[in-house]
Amino acid sequence: MAKVTIDGHMIEVPDGTTILQAARMIVEDKDYVGANIAPPTMCYYSKLKTSGGYCRTCIVKVTKGSEKDPRPMPKPVASCRTNVMDGMEVQNLTSPDVLEARKGVVEFLLINHPLDCPICDQAGECDLQNLGYGHGMAKTRYDFKRRTFQQIDIGPYIKLHMTRCILCYRCVKTADQITDTRVHGVMNRGDVSEISTYIKNVITNDFSGNVIDVCPVGALTDRTFRFKSRVWFTKPMDAHRGCTKCSGKVALWLKGTEVLRVTARKNVWGEVEDWICNECRFEKKNIHDWTIEGPRHIERQSVISANHYENLAQLKLDVQKQQKQLSALK
Ligand code: SF4
Ligand code: FES
Repeated sequence: MAKVTIDGHMIEVPDGTTILQAARMIVEDKDYVGANIAPPTMCYYSKLKTSGGYCRTCIVKVTKGSEKDPRPMPKPVASCRTNVMDGMEVQNLTSPDVLEARKGVVEFLLINHPLDCPICDQAGECDLQNLGYGHGMAKTRYDFKRRTFQQIDIGPYIKLHMTRCILCYRCVKTADQITDTRVHGVMNRGDVSEISTYIKNVITNDFSGNVIDVCPVGALTDRTFRFKSRVWFTKPMDAHRGCTKCSGKVALWLKGTEVLRVTARKNVWGEVEDWICNECRFEKKNIHDWTIEGPRHIERQSVISANHYENLAQLKLDVQKQQKQLSALK
């Protein structure tokens, strides 16, 4: 076991834990009171092996290496890829240097990413949008031409806006690790890298829709939901169905009783709880396909959580009543 202190909060964690995981453990502790000291992440995803280490959003300052070797680390380190040592002391929000360096990281991420939030389906649940508000600068210093791409359909359900991609590799690892056939990846290197399918292949695997959920920006979007509604006008509900391919536990995004979108449920860190299959995600858009459990609490900072409807216990009863009325009309 190793004792690590992050922004003044000490925790004892198993050897091999990363600084990021330790910070999340502190925040998840039921007795913890204070700011969210877990560093933001754009590429790390706890469910995906070897994720992390690409975006540098999660950098922190190690002011004391360990009990045995207390020297500080000479430059900020990626917390998702750095393991804790016994006696380590780390600064995240308490270090002005980290906050300044993170602004630079956000500026780099936004060099090519367009600020097309007003027309982007991901707006309201975009990790980069949240990161920009929390850690970005009001202006960019970048004057050069930005790279742009044509939008392409990769399969019947997924649209790729490569212009918005920040090359976090999450979709590639998702396809690699949860499906049998990966047909897309990162082509080329350096500033000409791009996500693409191999020789105009399409993504058709039963679980391919999960790449949409892991994408932190609006680069991979659901073609069945595109431009249907701003996400904050929809009401997320937990729902389930008996499915032979996946757990069948999803979040339904409703407008009235119309199912506009089906996604996996995400935890407090914005990560998928259970991967869901394409049948549940794209083909079950009738409210009668689902058993509604009740309003979904969106834990992450988001305009969606500004909807206070979830506190109305009455809502669940109303939805059940509506379902009964609709069933009677059938
Ligand atoms: S398409 Fe999305 S998930 Fe895939 S690398 Fe780009 S930003 Fe990441
Ligand atoms: S989240 Fe750690 S480098 Fe991207």
